[in-house]
Amino acid sequence: MNTKVITCMEENDKACLAEAGRILKAGGLVAFPTETVYGLGGDAFNPDSSRKIYAAKGRPSDNPLIVHICKWDDIYRLVSTAPEHAGKLAAAKKLADAFWPGPLTMILPKAEEVPEETTGGLRTVAVRMPSHKTALALIEASGGYVAAPSANTSGRPSPTLAKYVLEDMDGRIDMVIDGGEVGIGLESTIVDLTVSPAEILRPGYVTEAMLRTLLGEIETDRTVFDGNSGQAPKAPGMKYRHYAPKGELTIVSGEEEKTFSYINERLRQARAAGKRTAVIAAEETARNYDADIRKSLGGRTDGLSAAKRLYRVLRELDDEGAEIIYAEAFENTGLGAALMNRLLKAAGHRMIEL
Ligand code: TXA
Ligand code: MG
Repeated sequence: MNTKVITCMEENDKACLAEAGRILKAGGLVAFPTETVYGLGGDAFNPDSSRKIYAAKGRPSDNPLIVHICKWDDIYRLVSTAPEHAGKLAAAKKLADAFWPGPLTMILPKAEEVPEETTGGLRTVAVRMPSHKTALALIEASGGYVAAPSANTSGRPSPTLAKYVLEDMDGRIDMVIDGGEVGIGLESTIVDLTVSPAEILRPGYVTEAMLRTLLGEIETDRTVFDGNSGQAPKAPGMKYRHYAPKGELTIVSGEEEKTFSYINERLRQARAAGKRTAVIAAEETARNYDADIRKSLGGRTDGLSAAKRLYRVLRELDDEGAEIIYAEAFENTGLGAALMNRLLKAAGHRMIEL
């Protein structure tokens, strides 16, 4: 298959998106930018499109897809409107008024019509309205319902640039829409509204504190930060070892000076064993490490910068042949919670606390 690449910055959306919309309506696959990461879209109501998405990603088919919509009223075709679910829809409306369009995905009981191929066999459906203008225009041009996981091969970091989509998907999908670098760089927050209290299954830009203001009570799935809880994560996709770099990644948490000397000692040992070494650190401290490759995630207090750079850095470390990688820990609050969750997953939860 020949993958067509079109560049589509926000100003000229409509013209270049008509063709992409036709591809989706005909059952094809189109990768597109969102404010979080690039998505790999197919028609959510076409079971064949969902099967093709799993095949292109090499993703297990029990891992459900997020359905992307472009206006609130479209949710009623996706979600069960049975009277016993009225409270869940009311909560969804409250959150939508505050955070949609934007980086929040809600889990709700699904309507019969939504194919089980799209929901990985579950009776619930994940719904999100992205804020990226190109994404919204594409959803509209395709008929309103785009099932889209992140546009990476299963197990690789989610793409934050079109070139990373092509690295993984060239020849496997019909089209890639290049909209430049994404804004946030980590996937949307997922909140499950089918349980009481509501539960965060994946932390993201919309934080627990922000959701608590509107919902009152809210919990976070404990597997998000605890690799040894013995429980299975509640979002099926979170059980897979995502984002894993080819090298061995270890996170080190502790007071600055101790972290420098611990990591530098380990780097020295790895070098002596003939390994290519790397460090992932904040802008302020990166220069303190004696590694073959040093990657800065940006200023320590600039959570947005670190989020945006993480996946790119993980991909670059693979390309540059890093074998032993140490990362500084980041503060686990606000967007930092999402960053630490992804970093922990990349490290297979290997973290040293000094
Ligand atoms: O920011 C995002 O959410 C991006 C962009 C493209 O919108 N999409 C994304 O999709 O991250 P994906 O497929 O890579 O991750 C979706 C996660 C998976 O962990 C999946 O298991 C979970 O959402 N999920 C989907 N439907 C679910 C459901 N009904 N119940 C529980 N978890 C669900
Ligand atoms: Mg993904």
